[in-house]
Amino acid sequence: MDGSVASEAPASLGGRYDSRTSARPSVDDTPKTMAELEDQRRRLEQALSDLKSTQARLLQAHKLEAIGQLAAGIAHEINTPTQYVTDNVEFLSRAFERLCDLVAASRELLASAREGAPPPEVIARAEASFANGRIDYILQESPKAIQQSVDGLHRVASIVSAMKDFSHPSGGEKAPCDLNEAIASTIVVATNEWKYVADLETVFDPDLPLVRCLRDEVNQVVLNLIVNAAHAIDAVVLGGASGKGTIRVETIHDDGWAEIRVSDTGTGIPERARERVFDPFFTTKPVGKGTGQGLAIAYSVVVEKHGGEISFETETGRGTTFIVRLPVNVHEERLSTFCAPLRPMA
Ligand SMILES: Nc1ncnc2c1ncn2[C@@H]1O[C@H](COP(=O)(O)OP(=O)(O)OP(=O)(O)O)[C@@H](O)[C@H]1O
Ligand SMILES: [Mg+2]
Repeated sequence: MDGSVASEAPASLGGRYDSRTSARPSVDDTPKTMAELEDQRRRLEQALSDLKSTQARLLQAHKLEAIGQLAAGIAHEINTPTQYVTDNVEFLSRAFERLCDLVAASRELLASAREGAPPPEVIARAEASFANGRIDYILQESPKAIQQSVDGLHRVASIVSAMKDFSHPSGGEKAPCDLNEAIASTIVVATNEWKYVADLETVFDPDLPLVRCLRDEVNQVVLNLIVNAAHAIDAVVLGGASGKGTIRVETIHDDGWAEIRVSDTGTGIPERARERVFDPFFTTKPVGKGTGQGLAIAYSVVVEKHGGEISFETETGRGTTFIVRLPVNVHEERLSTFCAPLRPMA
């Protein structure tokens, strides 16, 4: 990796903030009276609250958009197992009818055997229900059909539970969260976004402590990173026509930080875009594929709301790794004012 990052220079972040908050009142003029000072304070407070509510609206809109986009994929993911469970249950239902016929014929055969030699027509009926019922086939296929159906139902249950987990609103309240579990759910929910272009591997640190966070918002950050990774790979493998790439999602407990790394074997971020990827509405994607909000939201959630860090390493033609770091034991009071500088990359 060439170690280039858009986020390495705090100066560029300062620039970004300036452009985001360009509507705020000027603080350059020296206030002459207490009244002016108070007026300026109120205007600043108002600007800050406007900014916060705009951010919240953007986050919500992006979340709804993501859920809308995911919905079709999730429907497809649920539809596939549902279809083969339906086929299998229909097969088992027909098999059951044949087995009922066989049981009836066997009973008849047994009853007449008790009374002496069974008449030939009773023996013929039992033989016919064996032959017509394709009993050997039923005995061979039924356990497979049952196992497949059980697997399919587990798959549907896991998708539904991942969806519940993914979309459960935190209501703006931070709570201790098992990030490995949350990320696993996000990966399931996003399956249709990556599975045609990439294999996805996870390396979860089993010793990752619970992290106090807004679980739904962190889920959304991870989703944005996975979707970006899939898009970057898609541009290389052309929708899967030239094989598949790899997305690797890793968690690491690193000295008071919970680190999430999302790596891809995609295009890499072009040099001219590196300084701008966290800017709201910066996108290199065609209309309908990207609105340029994913990383701006990720930045706001990670840095502003959790006192964390987000950065990336990228190499053109080889791929990109996004690194999110969330503090594990940060006091709430500290979080509200703390805005960590981005970690310079090695
Ligand atoms: N993993 C990646 N590989 C290559 N380029 C990336 C990667 N992630 C982001 N980018 C670049 O950064 C830009 C901004 O990303 P961001 O997620 O903010 O917006 P988007 O993906 O274009 O749209 P949205 O996320 O709103 O659907 C992308 O358009 C792309 O050029
Ligand atoms: Mg994106």
